[in-house]
Amino acid sequence: MTADPYARIAEWYDLLLNPALDGVRRTVAHVCRAEGLLRVLDACCGTGRQCAVLRGAGLACVGADLSPAMLGAARAATRVARPCERAASSGGGPRGGGGCPPVEPSHASPHRLPLLRADARALPFADGSFDAVVLSLALHEMPEATGNAALAEALRVAPRVLLADYRLAERNLDLPAVLFVHLPERLAGAEHYRNFRGFMARGGVEGLAHRAGLTVIRRERLLGGAGALLLAERNSRAG
Ligand SMILES: C[S@@+](CC[C@H](N)C(=O)[O-])C[C@H]1O[C@@H](n2cnc3c(N)ncnc32)[C@H](O)[C@@H]1O
Repeated sequence: MTADPYARIAEWYDLLLNPALDGVRRTVAHVCRAEGLLRVLDACCGTGRQCAVLRGAGLACVGADLSPAMLGAARAATRVARPCERAASSGGGPRGGGGCPPVEPSHASPHRLPLLRADARALPFADGSFDAVVLSLALHEMPEATGNAALAEALRVAPRVLLADYRLAERNLDLPAVLFVHLPERLAGAEHYRNFRGFMARGGVEGLAHRAGLTVIRRERLLGGAGALLLAERNSRAG
């Protein structure tokens, strides 16, 4: 198994990035509600924050991701402390609910997110299982062939996709935000940055949707103009 690129950052991810990314998640939830997309798969869910926001908005969301570290952070973030765990932590007892009986899956809290480890290129769901699949800030870090395969797989399990990712500057006002995102992308490592630059050279998220022949139903500006959310579906006239 190859090393998990998120192993070191996973426990810091929410703390560092939620202030910037929560606006993206709220926009995704707003579009899902407005468009009646009630059953959503977040196919590269990371720490599960998008699913939590969607569920907070009354929508059903399943999260999938390839990184065990990110899924571990997601499970920790969405975990609801049981009474015996709260007593242990407030009374100075061992952390992590020592003394609590293990939770059987059938008794798991309804507040917990359904999360699974899966490759976005091979999702363990039947055709059309969801109303929409979210691919948020993940396509830019994949090699081109991987991103294309993930997009095709998303369109197998749902008729619509929500692509939230970086785009090219459309006007001068966008330039500071577009230039700024090079900093976190560069810090994310050499391979990540190489894939990001390739993604941008191919036209960012708009270029991806265009090459895939998608019809964009709705478009929202994200991240001060550095990103866009595209609600898209297959072009019904495409062969
Ligand atoms: C930058 S994070 C974004 C996480 C989340 N969507 C968010 O907005 O916070 C990219 C995520 O994509 C996941 N990822 C990358 N390639 C993947 C693949 N082939 N299948 C599933 N997840 C993948 C990574 O593990 C990581 O959690």
